[in-house]
Amino acid sequence: MYYDPRAGDHGLAFDPLKALVVPRPIGWISTVSAAGNVNLAPFSFFNLLSEDPAMVCVAPGGRKPDRPMKDTRANIEATGEFVVNLATWDLRDAMNATSAALPAETDELAAAGLTAVAARQVRPPWVGESPVQLECRHWRTVELPSRDPDQPKAALFGEVIGVHVDDRLIVGGRVDITRARPIARLGYALYAVIDHTFHMRRP
Ligand SMILES: Cc1cc2nc3c(=O)[nH]c(=O)nc-3n(C[C@H](O)[C@H](O)[C@H](O)COP(=O)(O)O)c2cc1C
Repeated sequence: MYYDPRAGDHGLAFDPLKALVVPRPIGWISTVSAAGNVNLAPFSFFNLLSEDPAMVCVAPGGRKPDRPMKDTRANIEATGEFVVNLATWDLRDAMNATSAALPAETDELAAAGLTAVAARQVRPPWVGESPVQLECRHWRTVELPSRDPDQPKAALFGEVIGVHVDDRLIVGGRVDITRARPIARLGYALYAVIDHTFHMRRP
């Protein structure tokens, strides 16, 4: 089959695009508002883009009925800081719970029963139950096209300025990521879990 995503002429019940660009890592992002309220939410339009310096990108899209943009974007732009937590199999229900549309002043980290741990270089706390965290400083925001002017879309870039890794993941001087069992986003309501890897050298 072939379709034009602008026309949406795929003839299927759901647009398959997000089922085709997979797996997408989940940036589970903690922020604080200018007033100091903690916020936590998952984003799969997220990735590591480069290293030296290490740069990540997250794309919050749309808005809450009572707010011009999602809290994660508003907080990152207001404070210039965020933390990316690794979402894992064990934390899947908590991760999902933190995607609920809650009032801006609700601390999703506490509401999900998670432990807030103070970061070293930024104000947002990290999720104590998660085995990997990236402390990040906002670099810039690029507005993305949006077909609905009422639903803003943007890519927020950040530099990673601190990396926490649970020592239990380190085996023989390398990270054994299967010990963390990260989850990743597929299409529809599907997820993948990384519990098996294979090895291949470049030619
Ligand atoms: C696994 C997963 C991935 C998500 N990815 C995105 C995303 O990439 N962009 C986005 O705008 N919303 C995404 N969402 C929805 C947000 O998490 C949700 O809108 C959340 O309430 C935003 O919270 P905030 O207003 O506190 O930032 C995702 C939800 C889940 C469960």
